[in-house]
Amino acid sequence: MADSAFHRIIPLADLKPGRTHSTVIGGHEVLLCNTGDGVHAVSGLCTHAISRLDEGRLRGHRLTCLLHGASFDVRSGKVMGGPACEPLRSYPTRVTQGFIEVQA
Ligand code: FES
Repeated sequence: MADSAFHRIIPLADLKPGRTHSTVIGGHEVLLCNTGDGVHAVSGLCTHAISRLDEGRLRGHRLTCLLHGASFDVRSGKVMGGPACEPLRSYPTRVTQGFIEVQA
């Protein structure tokens, strides 16, 4: 069974709306995304050709990979635009005592 603990990452105050933060949890690249109405966590690697998404662009809920232009909804990881076909893994998040925590 996978570890389902929440991991404390960074203070919420350090992740402004429209910004992302890359981290590694249990060997997995995870990207925190502050959409302005919440913080979401998805895999930090594009499912199309494994490009790093911390070099991508976040606009609202849409995260766009700059390598070939695939886009994903960071609330669920679902594909919003190709060429990617597979969704990003999505991780539960919460804010506790001012810190963003990710369940992984
Ligand atoms: S690697 Fe992301 S769109 Fe191709």
